[in-house]
Amino acid sequence: MTTTSGLDAQKRIYATWAKFYDRIYTRLLARAQREAVAAACTGGPEILEIGVGTGLTLPYFPADRSVTGADLSLDMLRVARARVARDRLAHVRGLFVMDACRLAFADASFDMVTAQFMITLVPDPEQALDEMDRVLRPGGEIIVSSRLVADGGLAAPFWKLVSPLARAVGWSSDFKVSRLTDWAAATGRYETVHVGQGYFKVVRLRKLR
Ligand SMILES: C[S@@+](CC[C@H](N)C(=O)[O-])C[C@H]1O[C@@H](n2cnc3c(N)ncnc32)[C@H](O)[C@@H]1O
Repeated sequence: MTTTSGLDAQKRIYATWAKFYDRIYTRLLARAQREAVAAACTGGPEILEIGVGTGLTLPYFPADRSVTGADLSLDMLRVARARVARDRLAHVRGLFVMDACRLAFADASFDMVTAQFMITLVPDPEQALDEMDRVLRPGGEIIVSSRLVADGGLAAPFWKLVSPLARAVGWSSDFKVSRLTDWAAATGRYETVHVGQGYFKVVRLRKLR
């Protein structure tokens, strides 16, 4: 269950981050973001990016896609809107303030859904995944990129130890890949088609037709 205070805390954290987010993260996240965008472009043209933030990924999409962005933080979205205007990103159809757990889109309205460096911050990630599932068409994919840890990794206890610190600055350190793949398996309607390697990982979950 996502609480209002949890959402307010995220908004406060990202109101601060919005001012210098791009300077810190543009290069750091680019590899995983580009990989996730390339995956999101393997399906139909209607793409939803949830937790789009300052829109770092938006220039990575080709002009023949139709990208809708949503984010909890108006401050982050203001930066994204300025980027869209400055770089004339005509493939961006709209940027909306929205909670990942309560999407104001119709059922099955997107070909692909992506969430980059966001799912680990949501208090109830399964609820957010349920919402992504609801708005995704059969045959499409949910593509998540984030700091994700493998189950039973040697460093797992360390990442768990520092997780409160990470959370306080709007980050996450100990979110397990299995939280995503278990959700997919439990639905009975998804297959995990890719789990990436490395510190930042891309996970692809395909909705069966
Ligand atoms: C680390 S930033 C990532 C931004 C962007 N996806 C990127 O890759 O650069 C996390 C973003 O998730 C957003 N976020 C956090 N919780 C959210 C929620 N429940 N619903 C929608 N967006 C959320 C934050 O406002 C922030 O913009």
